[in-house]
Amino acid sequence: MPHAVPIGVVTISDRASRGEYADLGGPAIELCLGRILATPWRPERRLVPDEREQIEAALRGLADLDGCPLIVTTGGTGPAPRDVTPEATEAVCDRLLPGFGELMRAVSLRSVPTAILSRQMAGTRGHSLIVNLPGKPAAIAECLEAVFPAIPYCIDLLG
Ligand code: MTE
Repeated sequence: MPHAVPIGVVTISDRASRGEYADLGGPAIELCLGRILATPWRPERRLVPDEREQIEAALRGLADLDGCPLIVTTGGTGPAPRDVTPEATEAVCDRLLPGFGELMRAVSLRSVPTAILSRQMAGTRGHSLIVNLPGKPAAIAECLEAVFPAIPYCIDLLG
């Protein structure tokens, strides 16, 4: 598919990156995108540990080298000491879009009281939109479907 749009799918997990368990988050993102996206696309997959430098490098590469208009991450958004996805996201973004995190937490809180523990955020880097999702596979469709109506227009605005 030569014209398929590359979309970054980044799983951030110490244990999945060591092969201690299967990456369930990345496939859950792809399943959800497959249901929502009308245009041809292909995943640019990355699996990295909860290490800020490696997360930042993956996000920069997907935005600047692979030209992904959308990059979705899963994992590392909680309050544990090794959860650094929001910090890495903030470090690589030109601007933050706080509404994404606010909406995803609000929607999730209707069914999961611990949704308040996620520091998930979103922001832009050049022409790319980066969106954090929690690591639980069940959270992925819930969060992505909630914010998706704003994503195509946001990508249009980034030019
Ligand atoms: N959001 C939804 N929709 N569903 C969930 O199960 N889990 C919460 C929260 N947000 C959850 C959720 C929990 S228990 C945690 S600790 C935080 O996301 C952070 O998860 P992460 O560190 O795997 O990103």
